[in-house]
Amino acid sequence: MIRFQQKIDRNAPCWCGSGKKYKNCHEEFDEKIRKFELEGHVVPDRSIIKTPAQIQGIRDSAVINIAVLDEIGEKIHEGMSTQEIDDIVYNTTVKMGGIPADLHYEGFPKSVCTSINDQVCHGIPSDKIILKDGDIVNVDCSTILNGFFSDSSRMYCIGNVSPEWKKLVDVTKECVDIGLENVKPWTLLGDMGNAVNRHAIENGYSVVREIGGHGCGLEFHEDPYVSYVSAPGTEMLMVPGMAFTIEPMVNMGTADIYQDEKDGWGIYTQDGKPSAQWEIQVLVTETGHEVLAY
Ligand code: MF3
Ligand code: CO
Repeated sequence: MIRFQQKIDRNAPCWCGSGKKYKNCHEEFDEKIRKFELEGHVVPDRSIIKTPAQIQGIRDSAVINIAVLDEIGEKIHEGMSTQEIDDIVYNTTVKMGGIPADLHYEGFPKSVCTSINDQVCHGIPSDKIILKDGDIVNVDCSTILNGFFSDSSRMYCIGNVSPEWKKLVDVTKECVDIGLENVKPWTLLGDMGNAVNRHAIENGYSVVREIGGHGCGLEFHEDPYVSYVSAPGTEMLMVPGMAFTIEPMVNMGTADIYQDEKDGWGIYTQDGKPSAQWEIQVLVTETGHEVLAY
């Protein structure tokens, strides 16, 4: 889609709200984007380029998100219910002045997603789901603070996890790190996603195709959609001020998934083999990237 940017009077105030003249602010930036757009690349809309004040708001929100996941790391144990995880997330978030972004999001009934073993994502916490020795658990936490959104998730290993499953957890983390190394301004998201996918495949795993990452900061889910099975040279151009998540779901077996029809949320691997996911929220900067939430 070619969507030419509106031309701005060079002496008028910049669209970013800095108060500076356009010619001394984002003019060069816009011209660079336009060059990519003319080459046929998907480029970001101005609405997803964050201002310095917005970036600070997202950082402050992420402080809560990180603290909540740290707290889970200290308290998670065999025999605990996923409802107890939900209680910790709710209480810690609210105590720090935030709101759990998951709560009531599109009808989601709890404050966090807890996804165990063959559950890929969007697990609903319950007092009936008890963590067992050998489980691998993803806790996916999202926070709203002063209208700014943060989003990250971690894997937790309960008791004695088999070496085979531990490797899945570790390689999935490596996939995120490799994705992060590929977050650089004026390069394409498709190259980043492809690097993630290659690392999973090299280890004999597969990456879920239907669910990916997303822009995040001013909204919970904003553009771009971030695929981790993308082709090099495709997808949106990364420019400074964009914030999005890297959150591949890596399956030990095939990439096929299905949704729990009863609760309408839980996603599972079709073959019943385990799946792991780590999620970070990253900002594209002038020189590379900054991790906002992890
Ligand atoms: N935190 C998830 C993500 O990474 C979204 C969960 S939405 C919910 O995008 F409704 F399931 F909580
Ligand atoms: Co996310």
